[in-house]
Amino acid sequence: MNKRKTLYGLLAVVSTLFIIHSLVENYWIDPGATAFLSHKTGLKRELNLPVWLNVMYVHVAFACIAMLAGLLNFSNRIFEKSRRFHRINGYVYIVSVLLVVLTSGYMAPYATGGRIGSMGFNALNLIWLFITMMALVQIKRKQMGRHRNWMIRSYAFCFTNMLIHLITTLFHQGFGLVYVTSYTIGVYGSIVLLLIIPGIIIRRNR
Ligand code: HEM
Repeated sequence: MNKRKTLYGLLAVVSTLFIIHSLVENYWIDPGATAFLSHKTGLKRELNLPVWLNVMYVHVAFACIAMLAGLLNFSNRIFEKSRRFHRINGYVYIVSVLLVVLTSGYMAPYATGGRIGSMGFNALNLIWLFITMMALVQIKRKQMGRHRNWMIRSYAFCFTNMLIHLITTLFHQGFGLVYVTSYTIGVYGSIVLLLIIPGIIIRRNR
């Protein structure tokens, strides 16, 4: 029980810090995404900057809402206090995931790394959508255990951006690979990790 509480506390700290970082970085420090966009060279499609930026703002906002809503719904204390909150907040999570996927679908064709990067993001979109819908289907069937496991798998995808940047930094600054290659490794590396890590957590929970 204590181990579970510690794990949840750790998850809460990491998620909260990442939400604050994402909001401060993208709406305040670098609202024009100049650092990120400086790596986009030789794009096949011309990027409409004002539209791209507005889509990115919506993307970040709903990604943060999904991260917070998911975090609150994993709290046993909140669940025991109000199932109604859990249910409403669950729909907030699902709608947020849909909006993150939708905005991601707009940005994917302009992904850093070109076609390969786009394909990675499209795969991420499809996998996340499928997993989240499975979580919904299972609770509609009143399969609590299965619902929880699919939600663990789904929530992992809220860490996509964090993982991509961690892996990119490791390969770019740590191993000296060019940024675009490191970013592409980041996209595919995160897909692999996001599928493996929840599986380990679920097995340990049993
Ligand atoms: C909490 C979760 C997430 C946050 C905070 C977030 C945030 C961001 C931010 C700030 C950007 C702009 C570039 C950068 O600085 O990285 C971005 C780009 C992007 N994100 Fe997300 N994101 C999240 C999850 C996701 C997920 C789950 C997907 C796909 C299913 C996704 C797809 C994309 C795409 C396609 C781009 C454009 C990439 C590019 O132009 O190379 N994001 N995201």
